[in-house]
Amino acid sequence: MPTLTEILETMDYGPAPEDAKIAQSWLDKHSGGFGHFINGQFTKPGQCFAVSNPATGAEIAQVTQGTAEDVEMAVKAARAAQPKWAALPGHARAKHLYALARHVQQHARFLAVLETIDNGKPIRETRDIDVPLVARHFYHHAGWAEIMADEFPGATPQGVCGQVIPWNFPLLMLAWKVAPALAAGNTVVLKPAEYTPLTALALAEIAAEAGLPKGVLNIVTGDGATGAAIVGHGDIDKLAFTGSTDVGRIIRRQTAGSGKGLTLELGGKSPFIVFADADIDAAVEGVVDAIWFNQGQVCCAGSRILVAESIAPRFTQLLKQRMTKLRVGDPLDKSIDMGAIVHPVQLDRIASLVDQGKASGAAITQGTAPQGCFYPPTLAENVEPANILATEEIFGPVVTLTTFRTPEDALALANATNYGLAASVWSENVNLALDVAAKVKAGVVWINATNLFDAAAGFGGYRESGFGREGGREGMMAYLRPARPGKPGKPEASPATPDPLPALSGPAQPIDRTAKMYIGGKQARPDSGYVYQVTGPKGPVGMAGLGNRKDIRNAVEAAHKAAGWGKATGHNRAQVLYYLAENLSARAGEFADRLHSFGQSKKSAEAEVDATLRRAFWYAAQADKFDGAVHSTSNPYVTLAMNEPLGVVGVACPDSLPLLGLMSLVLPAIAMGNAVVALPSQSHPLAATDLYQVFDTSDLPGGVVNLVTGPRDELAKTLADHDDVAAMWYFGSAEGCAMVETASAGNLKQTWTEVAGTRDFTGPAGQGREFLHRATQVKNIWVPYGE
Ligand code: NAI
Repeated sequence: MPTLTEILETMDYGPAPEDAKIAQSWLDKHSGGFGHFINGQFTKPGQCFAVSNPATGAEIAQVTQGTAEDVEMAVKAARAAQPKWAALPGHARAKHLYALARHVQQHARFLAVLETIDNGKPIRETRDIDVPLVARHFYHHAGWAEIMADEFPGATPQGVCGQVIPWNFPLLMLAWKVAPALAAGNTVVLKPAEYTPLTALALAEIAAEAGLPKGVLNIVTGDGATGAAIVGHGDIDKLAFTGSTDVGRIIRRQTAGSGKGLTLELGGKSPFIVFADADIDAAVEGVVDAIWFNQGQVCCAGSRILVAESIAPRFTQLLKQRMTKLRVGDPLDKSIDMGAIVHPVQLDRIASLVDQGKASGAAITQGTAPQGCFYPPTLAENVEPANILATEEIFGPVVTLTTFRTPEDALALANATNYGLAASVWSENVNLALDVAAKVKAGVVWINATNLFDAAAGFGGYRESGFGREGGREGMMAYLRPARPGKPGKPEASPATPDPLPALSGPAQPIDRTAKMYIGGKQARPDSGYVYQVTGPKGPVGMAGLGNRKDIRNAVEAAHKAAGWGKATGHNRAQVLYYLAENLSARAGEFADRLHSFGQSKKSAEAEVDATLRRAFWYAAQADKFDGAVHSTSNPYVTLAMNEPLGVVGVACPDSLPLLGLMSLVLPAIAMGNAVVALPSQSHPLAATDLYQVFDTSDLPGGVVNLVTGPRDELAKTLADHDDVAAMWYFGSAEGCAMVETASAGNLKQTWTEVAGTRDFTGPAGQGREFLHRATQVKNIWVPYGE
């Protein structure tokens, strides 16, 4: 008879398959092929493509490839349904979302099995993570619908939303996008990924069963071409995309100038930082959840382990031991750790990246995986910074391991990527962990944890990981238009490109009266050596520097050197802004005269100065008040939603209101800790250049505000192209808006573009929380709290 020890050592897992009967019978019911779900019902199947179960390779459904006509039909249905849906009281929309949440729960097992069959992810995950989070999202957003009128007074829905989602969390990504859109009163046309369209179709059916009005949620299936037809459709008001950074860039360019709202949730290469004092066993288990969850096909996967050199040998040994024990196989088996890769194409991509990494010197250790569309858990060591495994988002169960010596090293390595989606920090020292959380460039930071999600906390990235947040208050704002008091004004005429004049032209003057630009806290002559004439109603009133690319580059560099401003306390920034207001007030008459010389009446010039002054006080007041939140998410964590500055912000100002237009944009940006490169009114830049004396006497650190005068649109293009500019605000012509949005795709900087003149900067629309919201990005830090 075997001993107990022998039994324990030889014991193996028996099969524990989940019953797939219900999902299978639903698929059988649709064996003739799926049409789209438009206006509350399935359309007749069109030209179809096959959808397979990646774990078996078996075809499980035929799904229609959406055409431009199909998209048109879906948008029409969404457009027709939108006014009525938006006009429902919040409570009525809340009841619909609540019903949807309840129905998701009733069909939870069916949806979990269907997702597993379609995507290949383990049933353990679809059952315990994906589907419960889907229900959670609908419940949470039922709440936002209920209280929307109180929480977002005057805000209106965007209208019809186009949503394109990936294959890694098919149903969850749908819920992240559909729930806030519907809560806010929008209607939706959503395209699931071509590998995994089935749960979206099932959910549409469930929504109809739950009584969701026709046309509110429409699903069009197909590949990237169908996605592109949605993105390019002229009657869509807002687009939300999750997927690869490459496609994100295409979409940014395709929508440039269309006036469509856009949020992008893109790729990542997130660091997983383990300090020497970390709970090493917990951190090893953390890696399992960071990179082997969903086969590593997770945008925020902790795909780069950075481990303190002193514990690296022990950590690596434990990790390898754990990795070899992971069970990879039939995703419907309840005791499997990792399932199938979504598609053979993705499997090939992963295998090819690992081969390339290996050829460049990476040392690869792998667990085991069965034949088929499976890939073993993989650890890559000796990975040089330029190795493709260190730079590319692999989107598979492959993690790199690099060591560091000091926290500064760790941070430098963590931030050495163009992405900025998430980070995981492991340390028992709360000071160290929170210090790193503050400094790491990521939209989500988990302390002693990883891959935690909740509807109450925003999710989304910095830098090339995209912009906009999903979940929480910020997520709702992405589906709303803020209240805009007052009537829209007429678009202002764009100024012609100014004629260059040699700086020393004209009659010799005892003093050089050319207004200088202002860069790095100093007056600066234009690099070009040219100036342009500024004229008022009675002829020339002065000269301004004709700025060029080099001046912009210098200004951006100076702005980066002023990064300390973003770390100053709100109180410090408030003091500087109060001081600035005080100094401006002392010279109010002088500024009013200057504005008057440009042709404004005395009264309107005085009113503009007065409004600027009040705005300075208002933003000074907000500097230490527009703060974040502590979200109640999942136990045992609290989630700190920190409002962080964006970094260097380019601001192209309207031509009219030369003082108020500039300061209405610069003040909120600097109040929130950004440094600004501003392009003042091209026709009347002298009110802005006079400001340098006010800035100098107000203790505003050099580089926080930089002013470059000259041809606005040309300079705006240089700023929008610049990779070290984090955000670009442009108030100018419609063509300029399109140009800025196209150019911004390079580093996927956030943009805020408006046709100048349409917003009334003199009234309440010229100031408010909307500006502060634009000037910040939320970092959500999950901190262990309680049991
Ligand atoms: P993808 O970005 O091409 O696809 C995502 C979605 O966009 C799908 O629904 C697709 O049909 C659609 N799409 C593709 N081209 C489009 C276009 N021009 N206009 C509008 N929609 C379009 O991602 P794919 O090809 O499935 O995966 C490639 C790589 O992208 C992966 O290996 C991974 O590295 C990354 N990826 C990242 C995701 C993330 O959440 N960060 C999600 C999926 C993929």
